[in-house]
Amino acid sequence: MRAAVIGEFKIFAGSANPALAKSIACELGARLGGCVVDRYPDGNVAVELLESVRRKEVFLMQSTSPPASDHLVELLALADACRRAGAGCITAIVPYFGYGRADKRSGRREPIMARLVADVLQVVGIEHLVMVDLHTPQIEGFFHSPVDSLTAVPTLCEALRGRLPAGIVVVSPDVGRLPMASRYAQRLGTSVVVLHKQRVSGTETRITHIVGNVSDLACLIIDDMITTGGTVAESVKALLSAGARPEIIVAATHGVFVRGAREKLSHPAVRDVLVTDTVRVTEKDWPQLHVVSIAPLIAGAVRRIVADGSLVELR
Ligand code: R5P
Repeated sequence: MRAAVIGEFKIFAGSANPALAKSIACELGARLGGCVVDRYPDGNVAVELLESVRRKEVFLMQSTSPPASDHLVELLALADACRRAGAGCITAIVPYFGYGRADKRSGRREPIMARLVADVLQVVGIEHLVMVDLHTPQIEGFFHSPVDSLTAVPTLCEALRGRLPAGIVVVSPDVGRLPMASRYAQRLGTSVVVLHKQRVSGTETRITHIVGNVSDLACLIIDDMITTGGTVAESVKALLSAGARPEIIVAATHGVFVRGAREKLSHPAVRDVLVTDTVRVTEKDWPQLHVVSIAPLIAGAVRRIVADGSLVELR
């Protein structure tokens, strides 16, 4: 890969979340690079860059949100086009990393999709990645290239201030989310309760134990993502059975919301659901849902990368 001319950068976006890409460009006082991201009649991905990227530092914006494989192929195609057109350095901004949950083998003859995706992203010349709240921090180790894993916790905590009832505890829906729950609790000046979750299948989970006291307390359930809504729905049930007040707020970085998720989250005790815009939210007329933009966070990361600065404060 050729060296990029310092300070000259371009941002291109796939089709996963054009609104977020525009907001990031706007925060940076830049414009999105012209490109065509389309499909051939047979469904194959068709990509064309409409401007030169020769020796430029290029940022490619694309969450690999559903349909994950389509969005992934768009990102690969954009990176390949940049590389073949002589781009200086290619950074992929993947706010939501689909396949992130497939980070180990749970059966005997399964792939490790997160690792496979990491490999193909690097094969097409992506030399640096920026992601937000990776499902597990060790995914970073699947890449040889540097990965900046940002966190949306401060952004969501700011949005939660003024919305939280007194006497609220942060609830981690499983042990894996405990470090994230602790960061919320530290910022919000409260304590953490942990649920023990068992995953029965891709759509079904069961809460078996609660570690901590929720009796007569309001609860803030946090998570990295809401997909089917099953984890949150089961957590709400378990917390109410353990005597929590019917004042529950949910905050998650990635609102993936597959079909049926909204119904699962529409429990009368759930007052608000806060997510960021790492994934394009298409839900409408859902008064409890609040979408907080991470455009300033990502724009801050781009600014620092272009200036060769440190991203440590954003992690
Ligand atoms: C699991 O380990 C994750 O952190 C989330 O709790 C889970 O992916 C949420 O998925 P769903 O909404 O389908 O329960």
